[in-house]
Amino acid sequence: MTDLDRRNLLCQGLAGLAAMGGRSLLLAEDAAPTDATLDVHNYQDFLDKKGIPQVAPAATWEQTHPDILGPYHVPGAPFRGKVTAPLAQGTPLVVRGRLWGFDTRKPITNAVLDVWQADHQGRYDMTDPRKPPAWHEFRNRIRLVTDETGYYEYETIRPAAYRAGRAVRPAHIHYMVQAPGYGKLITQLYFKGDPNIARDRSARQSNLLVAPQEKKVPGGTYQLATFDIVLARTAQASRKRRK
Ligand SMILES: [Fe+2]
Repeated sequence: MTDLDRRNLLCQGLAGLAAMGGRSLLLAEDAAPTDATLDVHNYQDFLDKKGIPQVAPAATWEQTHPDILGPYHVPGAPFRGKVTAPLAQGTPLVVRGRLWGFDTRKPITNAVLDVWQADHQGRYDMTDPRKPPAWHEFRNRIRLVTDETGYYEYETIRPAAYRAGRAVRPAHIHYMVQAPGYGKLITQLYFKGDPNIARDRSARQSNLLVAPQEKKVPGGTYQLATFDIVLARTAQASRKRRK
């Protein structure tokens, strides 16, 4: 077989595989639509008759403080509501919040939040170069989309503090927030009472330290924290709004 023959064979094989992959994602022609059910949620509950939200951010109407990106961000994490693997060690934690526009004082819908963190021993998935994660693995990393009321929620475990050079970083969860018309915000969630905050320049600037509440459920307890984010518009978007 010549090189040209081999190349043709390879191309045909790949084309066949691609076609199979595409076909496997097609809905069967005879599939019937699933019957719709009545909507049992009323997402308008927290709006008044003029559509003005009757709730406010957990902290104040200040723009959420920007923070350092750090070396551990990996783009392209999957969209899901659970950060850690099932039964991951650590204190179970649910974080919820709402994304707000600083200018409009209204929730921002359909924004994308990147969330990533260390585990219960303060380690990221790529901290140990001898055991790097596989390319498709996103351990302790997710993306979320805010709903029609700007709300988001995820389940995880409380991360631990970790050493970074000679300093100790207080326990934190990283966020990257992106919404059309608003500036990209990179920030971090810190926990009230963490003794390492006072010695950490980034954490000291935080205008919202979360204080998780202990919640009892059958079979155990978990912690619940609220982390609302207030976004500033981009300069370009602000100019457009003034016109
Ligand atoms: Fe970090």
